[in-house]
Amino acid sequence: MPPRIDPLGTSHGTILLAEDDLALAGSIARLLSEDHAILVAHDGATALALAEQHHPDLLITDVQMPGMDGFELTRRFRDIPGVPPAPVLVLTARAGIDDRLVGFGVGAVDYLTKPFDPVELRARVRAQLAHRALTRQLYDAEKLASLGAMSAGLAHELRNPANGIVNAVAPLKEMLPPELADPEHPVTQLIDVMAECADQVAFLSRQLLGFRRSGDLDLRRVPVGDVIDRALANASAAISGLDLRTRTEYTGPIRCAAPVMSQVLTNLLENAAHAAGPGGWIELATSKRPGRVTIEVTDSGPGVPQAIRDRIFEPFFTTKPPGQGTGLGLSTSRDLVHRHGGTLELRARGDRTVFAVDLPEPPEVS
Ligand SMILES: Nc1ncnc2c1ncn2[C@@H]1O[C@H](COP(=O)(O)OP(=O)(O)OP(=O)(O)O)[C@@H](O)[C@H]1O
Ligand SMILES: [Mg+2]
Repeated sequence: MPPRIDPLGTSHGTILLAEDDLALAGSIARLLSEDHAILVAHDGATALALAEQHHPDLLITDVQMPGMDGFELTRRFRDIPGVPPAPVLVLTARAGIDDRLVGFGVGAVDYLTKPFDPVELRARVRAQLAHRALTRQLYDAEKLASLGAMSAGLAHELRNPANGIVNAVAPLKEMLPPELADPEHPVTQLIDVMAECADQVAFLSRQLLGFRRSGDLDLRRVPVGDVIDRALANASAAISGLDLRTRTEYTGPIRCAAPVMSQVLTNLLENAAHAAGPGGWIELATSKRPGRVTIEVTDSGPGVPQAIRDRIFEPFFTTKPPGQGTGLGLSTSRDLVHRHGGTLELRARGDRTVFAVDLPEPPEVS
């Protein structure tokens, strides 16, 4: 029995099955694998290890198993960090009310007695996964709300020092002796870089504060190339040493708040650079279909493992070591793209994973 079976079609959640009867485990796995990714374990300890590694959306467990029984597994499964906890469905030949009460007491949410009707198992699994998806959405919405409050607070604190730098740069340039004031002189060029960066911080904080109040961004027509160039400059340290490939089928305008959209692309480029690693490549592609402009970032890294694909857009979800990533890059970027009326998605292209930003086609100017 392979430890994992991926569905042929779209996966509706990952299920972990703990069942020591090999034949029964096989038939349940076959039954559910049409719609779900299935991880199979034949004892409690293996199931727990798989749960810690893959964070499944549902645990289906037998009660009597060698070593750790299904009740102990349920208790330990519900204790795995990673909120919200996933539901547990207990599958057992023991039909007594006492057993059921023990099961519910340790955190199971549903019970099915063997022999069971496969149609009923499927229906119960679907109901649990639908409930799980809803809980997740609520959980994410709550996290995003606190993120919104936090970013508005941060934006507020950043605005004054950023404006201070912006306001100090012009007089500083005027004070330069003539031999340094030449626009080609490195001193003047460095001051201009500082001014541009401070401008961007001030602009971003205004935008963050602005959309907290009104929900609107200052959207303008900007050539897509300008937004990309700005993102490449922002991410230059992260992408240096990588082979940068571009496929620009579309070079026209997009409608966006340019510093905000370049921040989104910067986040995607930094993630791509991290995934590709030294010597790898990153591809930036633009294209247009009727009604929508698409910007895609692909990298030569190993892709996003199936087990975490549902989670990477959650605020604070990161696989980086502590202190190295906030896990806010993708959730904030998705939020910012939504505010442009667009979408940010992970798409499969052959064996590559592609992060795709879709934006509404800008209206014609008369
Ligand atoms: N191009 C990619 N290839 C593979 N995995 C990726 C890629 N981009 C993102 N991920 C996964 O998604 C997770 C979340 O990404 P996100 O940008 O939100 O946060 P982060 O990169 O971990 O932290 P930060 O953005 O603060 O550096 C990453 O930790 C990584 O596991
Ligand atoms: Mg990131």
